[in-house]
Amino acid sequence: MESLIGLVNRIQRACTVLGDFDGEGAAALPALWEALPSVAVVGGQSSGKSSVLESVVGRDFLPRGSGIVTRRPLVLQLHQIEEGQPEYAEFLHLPNRKFTDYSLVRKEIQDETERLTGKTKQISPVPIHLSIYSPHVVNLTLVDLPGLTKVAVEGQPDSIVQDIENMVHSYVEKPNCIILAISPANQDIATSDAMKLSREVDPTGERTFGVLTKLDLMDQGTNALDVLEGRAYRLQQPWVGVVNRSQADINKNADMIAARRREREYFATSPDYSHLANKMGSEYLAKLLSQHLESVIRAQIPSITALINKTSDELEAQMERIGRPVAVDEGAKLYTILELCRAFDRIFKEHLD
Ligand code: GDP
Ligand code: NA
Ligand code: MG
Repeated sequence: MESLIGLVNRIQRACTVLGDFDGEGAAALPALWEALPSVAVVGGQSSGKSSVLESVVGRDFLPRGSGIVTRRPLVLQLHQIEEGQPEYAEFLHLPNRKFTDYSLVRKEIQDETERLTGKTKQISPVPIHLSIYSPHVVNLTLVDLPGLTKVAVEGQPDSIVQDIENMVHSYVEKPNCIILAISPANQDIATSDAMKLSREVDPTGERTFGVLTKLDLMDQGTNALDVLEGRAYRLQQPWVGVVNRSQADINKNADMIAARRREREYFATSPDYSHLANKMGSEYLAKLLSQHLESVIRAQIPSITALINKTSDELEAQMERIGRPVAVDEGAKLYTILELCRAFDRIFKEHLD
């Protein structure tokens, strides 16, 4: 059976493709999109968001640099395929092109960002959709967002600080959004941008996963046990510590798989953290999130199917109203989502049994 996360991915992609269709029948689509659970990655600039995403994927594929690099949301859908099957990446805006070279994926993210924002430091809320098919990932959908910042830099409008905050808010305020809140261990957790945002939209900490990066950069003789053991900042979900590649590792092009291994060794041999070793690291984080997302989707099935039925009813009415012949494009799009809705309704019911 197709995984629930995979199913939800397909609905999300269909909603996006239809997003620019403005027929009445599409009115229910935003509601459907809103109801679908997702994981949003939030944190201050340079807190380690991109590094965490790359560690979770086990690939080096995100644009890098100092300052604001992520300028459009990146919806990253991970699909686990069978061992031995070829791994590839695919963009929603470039169907039929399979990427196997991750440096080209990085370049395409950059180019596609610039297509909407120009070579400026401006941002756009229109997401880029990227799917990665690999035997080495878990089923998971993550949204990478621009880093929260406190000041505009040269070339940016003064409104940028507020614009980024508003964009990030529009994701994390959805009750179905799981917040992956990234904070660096070498800064006081009380001043973390990620935790400040989480406290605003999820005061009881039900849907926030706290991730502490840069454990290896803490001052000698100090450790982060107060945070990792939940005493410094209480969340309902467990805190996860990670050790990503340093800038020096990145400059040396250090292999991601080797980096995952070093991270495991770091926790296994650390005098401070070895007692927590099996609950730390990027691989553990990926599994934890995948399981959580799956259970959230499962709990949402009744309301998702209700919305899907509502959407297909509206689409059917719309199709009838337009009647055939319809502008080929619009008719085909409506028809596609209608078929998808019907299929999902069936498959979700199987998952409920
Ligand atoms: P983002 O701006 O939040 O996406 O942050 P990046 O992932 O680009 O990381 C910013 C910088 O911190 C990069 O130079 C990373 O190599 C470095 N970095 C991130 N996480 C860690 C970590 O756990 N340990 C070390 N030593 N460096 C890290
Ligand atoms: Na950044
Ligand atoms: Mg980044």
